[in-house]
Amino acid sequence: MSESAPRGEPADQLPQFPAPRSRTCPFAPPPDLLKLRDTGKPLVRVRSWDGTTPWLALTHATQRALLSDKRLSANIGAPGYPHTTAAMKEHAAQMQPSINNTDGAEHARWRRMLTSSFTRRRMEILRPAIQKITDDLIDTMLAGPNPTELNEALSLPLPSLMICEMLGVPYEEHEFFQKHATITNAVNKSPEENAATTATLRRYISGLIEKKMDDPAEDVLSDLGERVKSGDLTLEEAAPLGHILLVAGHDTSANMITLSTALLMQHPEQLAALRERSGDDAYVSGAVEELLRYLTLPHLLARRAVVEDFEFEGETIRAGEGVIASLPAANWDPDAFRDPATLDLARSAAHHLAFGWGPHQCVGQQLARVELQVVFSTLFRRIPTLRLAADLEDLSFKEDSQAYGIYQLPVAW
Ligand code: HEM
Repeated sequence: MSESAPRGEPADQLPQFPAPRSRTCPFAPPPDLLKLRDTGKPLVRVRSWDGTTPWLALTHATQRALLSDKRLSANIGAPGYPHTTAAMKEHAAQMQPSINNTDGAEHARWRRMLTSSFTRRRMEILRPAIQKITDDLIDTMLAGPNPTELNEALSLPLPSLMICEMLGVPYEEHEFFQKHATITNAVNKSPEENAATTATLRRYISGLIEKKMDDPAEDVLSDLGERVKSGDLTLEEAAPLGHILLVAGHDTSANMITLSTALLMQHPEQLAALRERSGDDAYVSGAVEELLRYLTLPHLLARRAVVEDFEFEGETIRAGEGVIASLPAANWDPDAFRDPATLDLARSAAHHLAFGWGPHQCVGQQLARVELQVVFSTLFRRIPTLRLAADLEDLSFKEDSQAYGIYQLPVAW
């Protein structure tokens, strides 16, 4: 359905969202997005893939205000919700309510089920295990063929092993769930393929929860199974939560490891500093925040539907309209980060919005942080000669996926 934008501006004259990336600067946000940001307007109308014209929030301050505003809803079935893909739009009505698509008290109930499993303290306890897995994967990489492909060798197995361990999913089945996650995250799959893949993953998680109801262990799926047994949750409610955690828990960190490695190889002085200061925890943790800011891999998020009219920044925002907070635009906002196009691992970037903002801010952020800190304090120290084994122009970037990344990264040493 085509909409007409405010002040009679036809939808086809509005800027398209998302805009394409530059082939020569694939790590930077799309040039047209940066041009929109440079207009200085906090909020503009854009044209989406389906002809609808959601608001696009461009500045760091605007996004923080909107993402914590109760008049915006994460309910994907709410009128005007700006869907990322046709598949998501088509199946919105059948989506089970879960942590990522509910609001207020209902959302808080879902969050409470997970908070104790993902605290900063729990993640620190996991740090030695994350270090051991990283070292083992690097040992295997060094003993194997040179060059090798980094996603396969390190980026995917590390977060997949960790999230499997936390959830209680057998890692031997990683090829199955990694393949299905790639399909559900892709923006170009048909609604039928997407629905079939989601249903397969849900059935898989349901089956695991049922097994854990009979034979519980110390893991998140067993906790969910306990809730099903006590009547607190139904199995139909528990499965989507396990599914979200399994997909979000490995694909995001994996993309971040690969993308950051390729980016650092374009910045040899920054890479040398990171290698030299790999024993300095504060420096490494700051460097990870800067990589998260610079790359902002959830490049199509965050999305909300307006449920009540309100005035904001001189505009009337109406119920039934969509809002997209472009997280890369916020993270490259010069009012929030001086000289944002410069990668500076020593800067203080912890106020970035790569994990979102407000009640839906990422549940797994502490896990992702520890994984990235361990990888970036280990990889370049253990393999100081690590280099790209392909031309940058030949790499295939994941513009067509909800999590930005690189499909294959050949590396040599
Ligand atoms: C570098 C890694 C990661 C990035 C950049 C990232 C980014 C994000 C963002 C931007 C959101 C908010 C979406 C919105 O407001 O609509 C989010 C939510 C979420 N993330 Fe992550 N994430 C990462 C890793 C993880 C991991 C490792 C897990 C699981 C263990 C995870 C689980 C979740 C869940 C369950 C939500 C939904 C929270 C809610 O709606 O209340 N994420 N993530």
